[in-house]
Amino acid sequence: MNVAGQPTRTLWPAPDGRRVEIIDQTRLPDEFVVVRLDSLDAMAHAIRSMQLRGAPLIGVAGAYGIALAMQIDASDAALDAATNVLLATRPTAVNLRWALDRMATHLRPLAPTARVEAAWQTAAMMADEDVVACAAMAAHGEPLLRALWQRHPERPVQLLTHCNAGWLATIDWGTALGPIYRAHDAGIPVHVWVDETRPRNQGYLTAWELGQHGVPHTVIVDNAGGLLMRQGKVDACIVGTDRTTRTGDVANKIGTYLKALAAQDTQLPFYVAAPSSSIDWEVRDGISIPIEERDPREIHAMTGVAAHNPGFDITPARLVTALITERGVCAASEAGLLGLFPEHA
Ligand code: MRU
Repeated sequence: MNVAGQPTRTLWPAPDGRRVEIIDQTRLPDEFVVVRLDSLDAMAHAIRSMQLRGAPLIGVAGAYGIALAMQIDASDAALDAATNVLLATRPTAVNLRWALDRMATHLRPLAPTARVEAAWQTAAMMADEDVVACAAMAAHGEPLLRALWQRHPERPVQLLTHCNAGWLATIDWGTALGPIYRAHDAGIPVHVWVDETRPRNQGYLTAWELGQHGVPHTVIVDNAGGLLMRQGKVDACIVGTDRTTRTGDVANKIGTYLKALAAQDTQLPFYVAAPSSSIDWEVRDGISIPIEERDPREIHAMTGVAAHNPGFDITPARLVTALITERGVCAASEAGLLGLFPEHA
């Protein structure tokens, strides 16, 4: 997507081909700062501290973290150690495990001398695949928004999103925001209600990137969505996912579940953009997904008051109108997902 009119990704290899550059998302939206990462530890820190975040981006970053580690030591032991360091950074998004498994499966059969080059190539391939998957989700999701517009062609489609599932959360395009960008580019008038998303306020990342692309939007506090839905000011909700079970339950940023409940009560569609890299085929019941427990200091509680800060919640499949994947749109159910991904039957 464009930053100040320039096509930009969230992560790319440095010109020397041996380091990685990222947009430091902890500095947005105030400042656009590029940070250069030169080691496994620097990458692990970037993921843990949320200099980069968002499930698909975390996955690709993990792959590059392996490439950085292999430059120092390409032994089996170093591959295992690097995988464990990266896996421990953030527990909920399954993309990290998915990407690290792919890297290990590809690198382990190779001689250590061949692993450095192969690691950089595979990580780059995964970054490009993420862009293709996001573009495909945008294409599959756009007709859903077009249908909403056809119901009320006299006014913009009113969408509500939570957290940041835009291009900042991926390599490019985004998951939930992809169909919105595509609809906007196709001339469909859209307006996005952007949940602030306490306590980390990823909603301001969403507002920033929508603004860069010229998509009309309004930031709201997290608890405003229910009222707006009841007032008829929302046509649909659209969010991303950090982990989707094979039965269609969805782990996403804390607060997502409450939006889905409000959407059901007001009979509004609740769409989840779910790339296959976010599907955990081994888990059936979303409630068993590990939920990241974040630092209570992120909540500005009064001194001496206990604070509990879970980063994600689980939206059961019954509240999800449809999943938007890179292979098409399906019901949030095992049958729906297997219809698009029969290789996981
Ligand atoms: O804690 P974050 O900012 O990494 O959480 C991000 C989200 O919850 C996104 O909605 C999710 O990763 C889907 S991103 C395309």
